[in-house]
Amino acid sequence: MTASRFPEFGFSLDRLRSLQLDRLRQSLAHAFANQAPYRAKCEAARVHPDDLKSLDDLRRFPFTAKSDLRDAYPYGMLAVPREQCVRIHASSGTTGRPTVVGYSAKDIETWAEVMARSLHAGGARPGDIIHNAYGYGLFTGGLGAHYGAERLGCTVVPMSGGFGERQVQLITEFGARVVLMTPSYMLALADEFDRQGIDPRGTAMRIGIFGAEPWTEAMRAEIERRLGIDAVDIYGLSEVMGPGVACEFVETKDGPTIWEDHFYPEIVDPETGAPVPDGEPGELVFTSLTKEAMPVIRYRTRDLTRLLPGSATAMRRMEKITGRSDDMLIVRGVNLFPSQVEEQILRDPALSGHYVIELSRTGALDDLLVRVEARLTLEGEAAGRAGEALAQRLKGMCGLSAEVDIAAPGGVERSMGKARRVIDRRPKG
Ligand code: DLL
Repeated sequence: MTASRFPEFGFSLDRLRSLQLDRLRQSLAHAFANQAPYRAKCEAARVHPDDLKSLDDLRRFPFTAKSDLRDAYPYGMLAVPREQCVRIHASSGTTGRPTVVGYSAKDIETWAEVMARSLHAGGARPGDIIHNAYGYGLFTGGLGAHYGAERLGCTVVPMSGGFGERQVQLITEFGARVVLMTPSYMLALADEFDRQGIDPRGTAMRIGIFGAEPWTEAMRAEIERRLGIDAVDIYGLSEVMGPGVACEFVETKDGPTIWEDHFYPEIVDPETGAPVPDGEPGELVFTSLTKEAMPVIRYRTRDLTRLLPGSATAMRRMEKITGRSDDMLIVRGVNLFPSQVEEQILRDPALSGHYVIELSRTGALDDLLVRVEARLTLEGEAAGRAGEALAQRLKGMCGLSAEVDIAAPGGVERSMGKARRVIDRRPKG
C-alpha cells in the first residue's frame, strides 16, 4: 500500500534533489513575478530567479519574515488574484494584526496530500476512525488535519477543541484508533479519562499525532505511559501551509521527516542569518516549492532545530523542536527554554506535565516561579520535598534559583489548544 499510495517515500536522493531544483526554479519565478513585496526585496538585493543554478544558490536570495506578512496585511502577499483563493486562514498573533494566509484549490489539494502522508507515516490507515481535536476555524490545525484524514480514507470525527468530558466520551464510544490534538491537551484528557474512571487502554485508541506546540521526549514518555498509545510528532506552520509540513514515522519516532518535495528546508544562524551545515543547530527556514496562492521564499520560522539525514525515507528529518528563538527566556542573564523546565519537572513521577512559568521583577532582579501540578494531592511535607528537589534540579541545570509552587491536581489552568507556558509580568523595556 505504502509503495503505491505514497511513491515519494521511495524517492532516491538524486531524484529528490533534481525535483527540488526544478520546483524551486518555478517557485522563485512565480514569487518574483507575482508577489510584489518579494520582488522588491530581490531587486534591492540585486538577485534574479535566473541566478539560481543549483539548490545552494538559494542562499543568495532574501529571507521572508513574519513582519513581511504583517506589512502586507491582509492580501498583499498573494501571488494569485484573490478570487482564486478558495480559503483563508490566519494566525492570531499576540500583538496587533493577525497573519493571513491564502490557498488556491490546488494548494488545498497539496495540503490534503501532505497531511494524508503525515497521518500514514504516523500510523493511521485507511478505514481508521480519527478523532480530530485540533481547533477548527482560522487556525490551520482542524481543517488541515481534517482534509488529510479524509484524503487518506479515514472516518473523521470533527470534534475541534474543548469540552473535555465529551472528548473522552466520543473517543471511547465512537472507537477512535487515532487521535489528533496538542500534546498538552492530550495530557489534560488523560486526567479526564481518570476522572470518568475509564481506562484508555480499554478503548480502541492506539496512536496520537501531536503537534502545534513544543513538547519534549519526557512529555512523549509521559503521554505514552498514561494513555498506552504511541505518541507521534507532527510539525507545521500556517505561513508555510499548516500541519503536515513534517511528521514522524511511528516505527522510528526519531524526529519529523520533512516533506522535502514540497517544502525545502535550511538551517541558519538565528543571529546572522548565515546558513549552517546539516547537523548543526539553528533556525529552521522554509521555501515552498509548489504553493500557488502564497509562495514563501526562505521563510524564517524562528523554530530552533537541526537537520538530520533521512531514516524512513531519503527525505531529511528535523530534530524534535524544543523551542522557538522568541520563546527563549532571559532570566537574570541566563537563557532558558520552557522545554528545559519541562524535562526537569517530568523527572519526578509525583509531578504532572501541567505547569506554567511565571516571571516577575523585584527591584532589579528577575524572579522565577515554576508552578506545577502534583499528580495526586501531596501531603504538606511531600509537596515541600518535591518542590525542593525540583528547585535543586533546576539550579543544577541552569544555575538559576527558582521558587517552586506545587499545586494540587487541577490547580494549573488547562488550555484546549496551544498551552501557554510562560506568564511574564516583568516590566517591558
Ligand atoms: O500550529 C500548525 C499545526 C497544527 C502543526 C496542528 C501541527 C499540528 P501555527 O499556529 O502557525 O501552525 O503555529 C506554528 O507552532 O512555528 C512552531 O513554533 C509551533 N509548532 C508546530 N508544530 C510543532 C511541533 C500550527 N510539532 C508554530 N513541535 C511553529 C514544536 C511546533 N513546535
